[in-house]
Amino acid sequence: MKNLKIDAERLWDELMETAQIGGTPKGGICRLTLTDLDRQVRDWFKARCEALGCAVTVDDMGNMFARRPGTRADVPPIAMGSHLDTQPTGGKFDGALGVLAALEALRALHMAGYQTFAPIEVVNWTNEEGARFAPAMIASGVFAGVFTRDWAAARQDRSGETFGAALEAIGYRGPQRCGEHKLSAFFEVHIEQGPYLEAEGKDIGVVTGVQAMRWYEITVTGQDTHAGTTPMPRRHDALLAAARLVEAVNAAARKHPVAVGTVGLLEVKPGAPNVVPGEVFSMIDMRDPDPAVLDRMENDIEAAAAALRTGLGVEIAIKNIWTQPPQPFDPDCVAAVRGAAQVSGFTTRDMISGAGHDAAYVARVAPSAMIFVPCKDGISHNEIEYSSKEQCAAGAQVLLQAVLDYDRRLAERYER
Ligand code: GLV
Ligand code: MN
Ligand code: MN
Repeated sequence: MKNLKIDAERLWDELMETAQIGGTPKGGICRLTLTDLDRQVRDWFKARCEALGCAVTVDDMGNMFARRPGTRADVPPIAMGSHLDTQPTGGKFDGALGVLAALEALRALHMAGYQTFAPIEVVNWTNEEGARFAPAMIASGVFAGVFTRDWAAARQDRSGETFGAALEAIGYRGPQRCGEHKLSAFFEVHIEQGPYLEAEGKDIGVVTGVQAMRWYEITVTGQDTHAGTTPMPRRHDALLAAARLVEAVNAAARKHPVAVGTVGLLEVKPGAPNVVPGEVFSMIDMRDPDPAVLDRMENDIEAAAAALRTGLGVEIAIKNIWTQPPQPFDPDCVAAVRGAAQVSGFTTRDMISGAGHDAAYVARVAPSAMIFVPCKDGISHNEIEYSSKEQCAAGAQVLLQAVLDYDRRLAERYER
């Protein structure tokens, strides 16, 4: 079992091959969820899995499951995977590594003719990024029963198209009801997306959980007026209020040692150089391992908004659209990851994920854990995002080893 090896070249070639689907001139990927590019990469994924003899099923949120049978068809599969959608200026590794490392691990089993106890699956979760349809991890959220299917299907992108219509349009609304697909366990490989592994020279992050996160929609309403004729004291400038709110979010996060707060989206209306902006739509993303810290940040932002309402004579509506509590991973799965890294000769560091991941939702309904690999300068959600061939291969090798270890323990548990 220790000799079963993934093929680093094959994994790297597939990462580079799929990076062409939505590839950008700067070397990244723009493959927003449920677009035609997403359909293309899904078709590619399905074909590769079927070529390995896997049966591919799709649920009604577009989540894809490629199954390799085990000796016991009645045992729920041990799944591994991540997402194939990207940010608008995404890199080649965020999500793709988790799916393609899983595909490579499954291929290693296939080529060795290795018979597992449980079926093994590779999963591609829909809309992990939340870049087109907010919030992030919608489909794994429905899978875990956190969101209803109808609520998810009705989510709209900024052009007003719904998740449901977009899913239908690319032909990936499957017959299986999302959430009915049972899993024995779930393992996800991902680039760290932060600086710690590289800085400390560690090969593998053993992820013990995911921090808490919240998203808010902000609508600031002022008054459109002439930029040349409206005296400064008579203005109700929605953008000025939004700009001050951006400062308030930053200041709220900086009060705490590890909290982060971001305004990454701002839409200004009507958007002309000579009109004082009358409306701004924006979104806040804030995160910390401790939800009490997020409560304090929320209070600070509310207080800043109250002052801006009176000071600038604008309306500010703040709507919380997503609250994700901290999510610890399953101790047995985490131990399987740690053991797999050690047996493969890699150095490790335990860590909490700053980024959100499908595994955080899947963990609510199946034992789950994650494996991180370092990425250059800790940069992600950027076209220059980079992890080396060896780093990607290490993640895939640990994934394979962890799944095999978990499978062996599962067999013992069933046969006891
Ligand atoms: C997922 O990309 C996240 O926002 O953490
Ligand atoms: Mn990701
Ligand atoms: Mn991401």
